[in-house]
Amino acid sequence: MSVVIRCEGLHKIYRLGRGNEVVALAGVTLSIRRGTTVLITGPSGSGKTTLLSIMGTLERPTKGRVIINDKTVNELSEAALARFRRDTVGFLFQDYNLIPRLPAWENVSYPLIPLGVRTSERKRRALELLEMLGLSERYTHTPEQLSGGERQRLSLARALINNPEILLLDEPTSNIDHKTAERILQLLRKLRQGGKSIIISSHDGHILTEADQTFQIAEGRLVE
Ligand SMILES: Nc1ncnc2c1ncn2[C@@H]1O[C@H](COP(=O)(O)OP(=O)(O)O)[C@@H](O)[C@H]1O
Ligand SMILES: [Mg+2]
Repeated sequence: MSVVIRCEGLHKIYRLGRGNEVVALAGVTLSIRRGTTVLITGPSGSGKTTLLSIMGTLERPTKGRVIINDKTVNELSEAALARFRRDTVGFLFQDYNLIPRLPAWENVSYPLIPLGVRTSERKRRALELLEMLGLSERYTHTPEQLSGGERQRLSLARALINNPEILLLDEPTSNIDHKTAERILQLLRKLRQGGKSIIISSHDGHILTEADQTFQIAEGRLVE
């Protein structure tokens, strides 16, 4: 089976000014097979968000390489990276990153604007996803008018709007009740059957018993 994402010797060091450094990743090497669901677990602060951000090309590693679909993405320009993300990656952020004061359906379909998709078509696709996630009655609500769990699902809908080949989900089931979590996991199962590569981070290793592969991370390193 082919590899969709390969990380080689990833280091990420945040420099916070004189002598104050945080080593978020300390040499992570791993391969993710296409069409699989992979879970990355580890305690809070272990580097999960950093790793996902680098795999999604939102952050650059301090050292090491990321190879996605046989392309070394470190070498791409910012413009090429932006295009690559737009076409290939869907990202659910731990803190949602939703746009305040914008109705739910516009938040969801926002990534389609630079693709030149017409408003009526954006709305249609957003409503379809909101429906799938049980949020159709909230489509005009702004993020601040939604509960934490609803915001989480909204963020997932946005991650799916460009029908991405790779899904990166940072703690997608935290802050939500069991029933909603189950609904999200069910959707993820369906997406996996559809051939998507799904990478999920969680501080709770039990959320996804059916992951094809689990990587454990602690203090920026994979645990054997
Ligand atoms: N932008 C940043 N600047 C400085 N330190 C950061 C930044 N982002 C993350 N860190 C630090 O890097 C480490 C790993 O963080 P993170 O990847 O968010 O872990 P996790 O998602 O597993 O909780 C933590 O010690 C965190 O404080
Ligand atoms: Mg995190």
